[in-house]
Amino acid sequence: MNIKAFIFDLDGVLVDTAKYHYLAWKRLAEELSIDFSLKDNERLKGVSRMKSLDIILEIGNIKLDNIAKDKLAQKKNAWYVEYISTLTPKDILPGVTDFLKSVKANNIKIALGSASKNSMLILQKLDLTSYFDSIIDGTKVSKAKPDPEVFLKGALELNILPRQCIVFEDAQAGVAAAINAGMYCVGIGSIDILKDAQLVIPGFFNMNYDKLVKLGGSFNVELL
Ligand code: BG6
Ligand code: MG
Repeated sequence: MNIKAFIFDLDGVLVDTAKYHYLAWKRLAEELSIDFSLKDNERLKGVSRMKSLDIILEIGNIKLDNIAKDKLAQKKNAWYVEYISTLTPKDILPGVTDFLKSVKANNIKIALGSASKNSMLILQKLDLTSYFDSIIDGTKVSKAKPDPEVFLKGALELNILPRQCIVFEDAQAGVAAAINAGMYCVGIGSIDILKDAQLVIPGFFNMNYDKLVKLGGSFNVELL
């Protein structure tokens, strides 16, 4: 095994902001009289703000010009930012901080690979910024997951080869992005949703670097 970096998605992996994204999108969908379910919401996880809006408008069979879409995206984001304004380190998902510490103790680099333009704000609120050697977020990429850009930029910034990186993802689009980047992917959540990940764990509770390496069979896998 020659793994040198772990790249973490943010929403749904380090913190449960996915529920706030859902609440804000649901509120917008209701305003537009669009029926938007939790199942539909799975399609939004990991994808950019604008692409999420496009999916919702497609569900509602509504066509709008870019100016109207920008206004709606801004509205959703204002609600979302209001929802997350109360985040504190207590909202970090169980086991995450200890896991990050054990990763650091094993000299593995840590990067963030998130589509969110609110990443810096959230990391600050959670007091997690200092753990990251590289932060690639929605302000630094132009192509949304499943495009591999966000993870490849992280590897490049760390000066580490893609095949030496492991990605942690809770979204189908994110798992696809990791695989498209030629990286090993650990799914965080349910195997039913994250079938394409090489390994799926429910979360980081009771997990540490050594346990993960054992579960991953030392990551001696042929990726490409
Ligand atoms: C991803 C979330 O991390 O970020 C998506 O999974 C979200 O649901 C995307 O749409 C963009 O986030 P933001 O904060 O820039 O609207
Ligand atoms: Mg996510």
